[in-house]
Amino acid sequence: MLPAVKPMNEITKVTDAAPNAAPVKAAPKLPDTQTVTAVKHWTDKLFSFRMTRPATMRFRSGEFVMIGLMGDVNPKTGKPKPLLRAYSIASPSWDEELEFYSIKVQDGPLTSRLQHIQVGDEIILRPKPVGTLVHDALIPGKRIWFFATGTGFAPFASLLREPQTYEDYDEIIITHTCRTAGELTYGAELIENLKQDEMMLELLGEENLNKIRYYPTTTREESPKMGRITNLMRSGEAFTDLGVDPINPDSDRAMVCGNLAFNLEIKDLLEGYGLEEGANSKPAQYVVEKAFLD
Ligand code: A2P
Repeated sequence: MLPAVKPMNEITKVTDAAPNAAPVKAAPKLPDTQTVTAVKHWTDKLFSFRMTRPATMRFRSGEFVMIGLMGDVNPKTGKPKPLLRAYSIASPSWDEELEFYSIKVQDGPLTSRLQHIQVGDEIILRPKPVGTLVHDALIPGKRIWFFATGTGFAPFASLLREPQTYEDYDEIIITHTCRTAGELTYGAELIENLKQDEMMLELLGEENLNKIRYYPTTTREESPKMGRITNLMRSGEAFTDLGVDPINPDSDRAMVCGNLAFNLEIKDLLEGYGLEEGANSKPAQYVVEKAFLD
């Protein structure tokens, strides 16, 4: 059951929309389409958006779905073909809407168009959520690490708003490595809002929200913490900064979502600490998913 609460982090600024943007349409025209309810541009390369959620759609926080737009006409059939990509759902399972966080690739087949969506537009959604970044794929532990780069933060935006995260763990460490400080803003604001939002405080509890440790780093622009998280872990600096023991298989669990090279490097590190990779069918100590890239 979805709690009868207003979704937090409602995105009200519609920076890319015309001042008199069309009102939200009540019902989608085509099957499998949903209506955009909010759009926010974070940098020239990143934006997030919210849309209606099919009443029957259930998912586990951390999963992804296929979403997209109608593509070009297929010359063989004479019909337009849907252009779909996998996107992590950034909203939690209880939210009455769906939220997504996306890169803008100027020549990307989907995101070159998706970045122009406005409130009231329709988006295709295949409501069949799947994925490995779910609590069911991990065995019990004391501390969970969420490792993200770039838009890989999205599934953690969902899991950080999911009550089970706080029921399952005493400590939640979220690391986010981006090129520039501006690319950290979506995540930084979300975490800041979590701790201040009355509804989230009521849903999750202040004590639980205090379990979050946020460790943002940048690699190509000056910020309070510079460097790739992988290097900061190898040198031990990340553990010293956080005041925690290095990762060990008895107490620590991890979820990883970023670019391919990052995922492989973190996998290697986690295996080095003695953690085993889990899956829905065989829960273990860490899980990995590739962030969407157009
Ligand atoms: P860097 O700037 O040193 O490449 P991208 O925008 O290319 O997806 O990268 C997002 C962030 O992930 C960047 O800060 C990038 O650092 C970092 N990154 C890329 N590859 C790795 C890796 N193998 N290990 C750790 N961080 C990585």
